[in-house]
Amino acid sequence: MTIYIPEDKISEIKNTANIVEVVSEVVILKKTGKNYIGLCPFHSEKTPSFTVSQEKQIFYCFGCAAGGNVFSFLMKHDGISFPDAAKILARRYGIDIPVRTMSPEQKQRMSQRENLLAVNRQAMGFFRKQLLDAVSGKRAMGYLKKRGINKEIFDNFNLGYALQGWDNLLSFFKKKNISLALVEKAGLIVPRKEKSGYYDRFRDRLIFPIFDLNMQAIGFGGRVMDDSMPKYLNSPETPVYNKSRSLYGLNLAKMKCRENGRVYIVEGYFDLLALHQHGFQNSVATLGTSLTPEHVQILKGFVGKDGKIILVFDSDDAGIKAVLRSIGIFMRMEVDARIIVLPEGYDPDSFLFEFGYESFVDRDSNARSLMSFLIDSAVKKHGLSIEGKIRIISEMKGPLSSIKDNIKRSLYIKELAECVNIDESAVLEKIRKLSVRNRDKAIRPTMPNSFLGRGQNKAAFPDKIQEKSFQGKWGRLERQIIAMMLQFPQILSEISERNILNLFENTVLKSIGQVLLKQKDYSEMQASDIINIIEDKEQKNIVASLAIEEDKWDYEACIGIITRFESIRKKNEKKLIEKIKVAEKENDLELLSKLLRQKQKLALLTEKKKMTLLR
Ligand code: UTP
Ligand code: MN
Repeated sequence: MTIYIPEDKISEIKNTANIVEVVSEVVILKKTGKNYIGLCPFHSEKTPSFTVSQEKQIFYCFGCAAGGNVFSFLMKHDGISFPDAAKILARRYGIDIPVRTMSPEQKQRMSQRENLLAVNRQAMGFFRKQLLDAVSGKRAMGYLKKRGINKEIFDNFNLGYALQGWDNLLSFFKKKNISLALVEKAGLIVPRKEKSGYYDRFRDRLIFPIFDLNMQAIGFGGRVMDDSMPKYLNSPETPVYNKSRSLYGLNLAKMKCRENGRVYIVEGYFDLLALHQHGFQNSVATLGTSLTPEHVQILKGFVGKDGKIILVFDSDDAGIKAVLRSIGIFMRMEVDARIIVLPEGYDPDSFLFEFGYESFVDRDSNARSLMSFLIDSAVKKHGLSIEGKIRIISEMKGPLSSIKDNIKRSLYIKELAECVNIDESAVLEKIRKLSVRNRDKAIRPTMPNSFLGRGQNKAAFPDKIQEKSFQGKWGRLERQIIAMMLQFPQILSEISERNILNLFENTVLKSIGQVLLKQKDYSEMQASDIINIIEDKEQKNIVASLAIEEDKWDYEACIGIITRFESIRKKNEKKLIEKIKVAEKENDLELLSKLLRQKQKLALLTEKKKMTLLR
């Protein structure tokens, strides 16, 4: 299911798009030498190993071995297809993709994702129009006014209104001849149980479109304007709306998050609008789902390694629950997370409208670390009787043992010991037992597999693949040769004439080499073009890893490496042949077959040679 994008458009996009710009939207990059580095968005890390080359238009992460060009970056980061990535880039760089000239067939093949986004876009326009123009939209407008939301905010967030009635949106799409199955898939209409047909999901509700980072509407939330239930209705998850990766308001917050190195997280739509309206644009909302590792990873990309994530909660109780739910994530991902607790009965929305900007800043400057907030709450809850102290310690040992950083952990243990007035070593003893267990459990992934996504697990544990395929003198030399071919195309004819690839043992490297030799005008191309040509994901990663390293090649050095490789291979072959001859003489069939297998593996043995040897 691919969308048709003409080849010349692809190359126009490729020539216009700048990988540094695109990556900068989600990763803070620092220039070091020729390249840029930052924290990898594809795995959790503290020291930057994610490298972007402006010159070569590729990226590579030395930590998790993910690599590619600007297209693969978007595909991997947003979990989208190549045509979708191309479309996003085209939109971003103002390149027109001639959709209208598509044949009906091509139209049919338009990806479902793109279609769903188009449906959402149209629905958003429809809701918007109702808010601004419809008679009943006045009521919604009045409701917004009552809640103090100004025009700039509801414009920025593209709020809308879904009319009363069961089939307003339905008939809108019917008239447009759009497949109702598609509209259903987008979560906007619901099939009737009894009869055939559909009805509108959102009726007589204020509509909040939910956007992704590319400003595409991926889902909707709708609020009633009276006391009826449910208060909020949300789009279901769809192929374009993944709740555990989406954060409401991030599309407008991202740049501010980066500037400030901090982000506020609230729970509700109106809380988020209120924060933005009061000047805290670096705010996002989780919308009724709890915070996931994906959310945190995304936010970390914006606030940076030393950035702060600040949870804003309505009450101690809600706060405690949220902290308990998410503390493991923050600890594992080593994020400096804080919490602001608002006075009883207030949420961020009502707090800001009642007390204003200054009061919020004040609360913010007193934001507590999650751990001391938990310690405090436990003390409040259980009191300081002997029994209370025992409860406090047993409640705290889980969270404390999840802290990876030894120094931090001991500081909090000290704080806890002081709070409950117990000898530090006694607390320590309790916690140590648990930490050891936790650490054993957490040897490998610091992130659940679900975060890595399908097929990416391998890339996340690069030492494994690298061990297998690239180490040892073979691997290293073969890698070097492919790197040389990528970075110094003048050498290609030499490689081809001397048939060097035939001496390769590593089949993956060999096939990359073959792709390179096949290009008629590789000297005109870049590594990022090769990444487009190669289909296999692992191979794309490898090409990026080999192309990004800054090596200075000259002809002589290259010939030196090639010759050395050849001679080692030949020498090895000779040794093996000697051994085979001996084994033959001694009639050691077992050894012989073992050696022959080795020989075969060397990929040197032509059928003919084998015959003569066996004779
Ligand atoms: P709240 O019940 O705290 O509402 O839900 P709120 O955000 O303060 O809403 P207002 O101020 O009365 O308008 C917090 C969030 O939980 C989700 C919504 O995202 C809401 O903003 N929620 C709540 C739902 O999804 N469905 C519901 O029925 C209620
Ligand atoms: Mn509220």
